[in-house]
Amino acid sequence: MTTTPPVCDYEGSDYQTSFWEQGGRAYEDRAEEIALRRLVPTQGTLLLELGAGAGRNTPRYPGYERIVLLDYSRTQLQQARAKLGDSPRYIYIAADIYRLPFRAALFDGATMIRTLHHMADAPAALAQVRRVLAPGATFILEYANKLNVKAILRYWLGRQNWSPFSPEPVEFVKLNFDFHPAAIRRWLAELGFIPQKTLTVSHFRLGLLKRWLPAGFLAALDGLAQLTGDWWQITPSVFIKSTLPAAAAGEPRPASVLDWFQCPACGQTPLHSQDDALHCSGCGQNWAYRDGIYDFRDPLSA
Ligand SMILES: C[S@@+](CC[C@H](N)C(=O)[O-])C[C@H]1O[C@@H](n2cnc3c(N)ncnc32)[C@H](O)[C@@H]1O
Repeated sequence: MTTTPPVCDYEGSDYQTSFWEQGGRAYEDRAEEIALRRLVPTQGTLLLELGAGAGRNTPRYPGYERIVLLDYSRTQLQQARAKLGDSPRYIYIAADIYRLPFRAALFDGATMIRTLHHMADAPAALAQVRRVLAPGATFILEYANKLNVKAILRYWLGRQNWSPFSPEPVEFVKLNFDFHPAAIRRWLAELGFIPQKTLTVSHFRLGLLKRWLPAGFLAALDGLAQLTGDWWQITPSVFIKSTLPAAAAGEPRPASVLDWFQCPACGQTPLHSQDDALHCSGCGQNWAYRDGIYDFRDPLSA
């Protein structure tokens, strides 16, 4: 298998509880809900949620017929499955974004929220997303913005040694990156994405404000301020919706989920079901399907 960048591993993490439910982030969660309500298409057939985690955002995509929740962490997916349940609408997949296990042009939508900031090679990750999206598809990307007010002030006051104005990503903690809006726009454009709308999110991410004002009120204010996103981006979080150019209808999507997959080791498609696993006739690897999760992280040992 080719070498891919390191992964920020959430296996066994209590992220959903410690960061969201007990982490004092009701304001950010509601502000993101407002942004997604504005950006997510009202209808769609198959959505890929990249870095879905414990499924916090999954209920925010009501117009899609089916949703593939993809995450590297099996335990995050187990939490998502416990929350959302088993139904033909949800498909749970453990895989690395750098080696997406899908045939090309499969999805008509994708979201990637609070996940790009773990990508040491963001252009490579975005290229994978591009590969699996169909002509006309919608992509909603959230990224952590290095050009935010706090970073600018800290830089001007000499309290931060990296410049928020330069285009390269900054790794502020191991495998946690902030990006410059111009770099994100350039990478998306190079892949053929057409920008539709940008929303700036979390204008009021300040401990003092969050303590004084109710989360719902701050989120409503944020909802108004988000609308300036097409003009300037100086918030810590930015949502950008873009689309791929439409084209004449290609081959219809295969009806069986099994025919959607591509071997992440060698690129062979389709895979074949064999003894509770998926078998690749190209390289001979087998991939597990256990406890409702297709597992494309590591092949089963022979
Ligand atoms: C900060 S959490 C965000 C989860 C969810 N999107 C949310 O907003 O609540 C980032 C998620 O990205 C996943 N992730 C990080 N690197 C990944 C990779 N290379 N491939 C797939 N998932 C990855 C992590 O396992 C984690 O669940």
